[in-house]
Amino acid sequence: MLSKSQARLFFIVGTIFFSGVFLWLTVDTIRQVPNQTRAANITPAVDRGKKIWEANNCMGCHTIFGEGAYYAPELTKVVERRGEVWLKTFLKDPEAMYPGERKMTNYHFSDNQINDVIAFLKWAGEVDLNGFPAKPTLSATTASAPVSNLDLLKGAPSTFSQLCTACHSVGGKGGNVGPALDGVASRMSAEEMTKRIKDPMSVKPDSKMPKLGLSDGDISQLVAFLQTLK
Ligand code: HEC
Ligand code: HEC
Repeated sequence: MLSKSQARLFFIVGTIFFSGVFLWLTVDTIRQVPNQTRAANITPAVDRGKKIWEANNCMGCHTIFGEGAYYAPELTKVVERRGEVWLKTFLKDPEAMYPGERKMTNYHFSDNQINDVIAFLKWAGEVDLNGFPAKPTLSATTASAPVSNLDLLKGAPSTFSQLCTACHSVGGKGGNVGPALDGVASRMSAEEMTKRIKDPMSVKPDSKMPKLGLSDGDISQLVAFLQTLK
């Protein structure tokens, strides 16, 4: 049995000790926040991107860090999943990417605004979230990440390895929305490829291949690369 004064001492020492532990844990957590949020990476572009994100209520349809609405995909890791080239093309004209079947609003952003939004999403993807979100186990019809680690793609422009491989495979890597492009040069001339990439619906009115709004320079680079796939 403790005497009254021993009990008081026990109470006081215990309270001081555990208050100390609590304070120390609080300070430690606060100290780790800048590191976990990658505060050093918050550039003015990230900041502008976040304002665009808020002003347009992207969370009315999307979640980020698990918060928001569940109508449209989680976007925390979207830069890792899609790559910047794909995102730029998609944000410029979401419907072109999925002709006639998609629901994402076209905000008519300028190139600068698109870069800011991507900077924001890229920062979000680098925040330390203890493994959130879990990698999906579903098999996707579009490739889950830019395919650039393949010998066949050594000479490919980044537009190809980040954008076209979302739907097309080469050497078995990539999406399966469109046909595999292995050997495409032996079934198609450079002129026909150019037409197909520039305006797929001019060749096939019900084409599921998006009109991607690429520059002539990009297209001739792509065609030069595709011509090597014999
Ligand atoms: C009205 C609902 C809606 C709003 C608002 C909306 N989106 Fe989307 N978003 C979608 C849907 C639906 C998709 C899935 C692709 C599709 O169907 O077009 C999508 C897809 C995306 C993707 C590609 C995701 C992936 O994994 O392929 C990105 C990036 C994106 N949205 C960014 C944004 C940004 C940035 C904003 C705000 C400026 C925004 N969205 C606002 C509905 C919306
Ligand atoms: C959103 C999916 C999607 C993306 C992204 C995409 N394509 Fe396609 N592509 C298709 C589909 C689907 C077809 C099948 C033909 C059709 O429906 O017109 C196709 C057909 C083609 C063909 C004709 C192939 C054949 O054997 O008939 C070529 C060449 C081609 N795409 C090149 C490209 C290039 C280069 C890019 C990148 C700039 C690209 N595609 C991006 C979906 C896509």
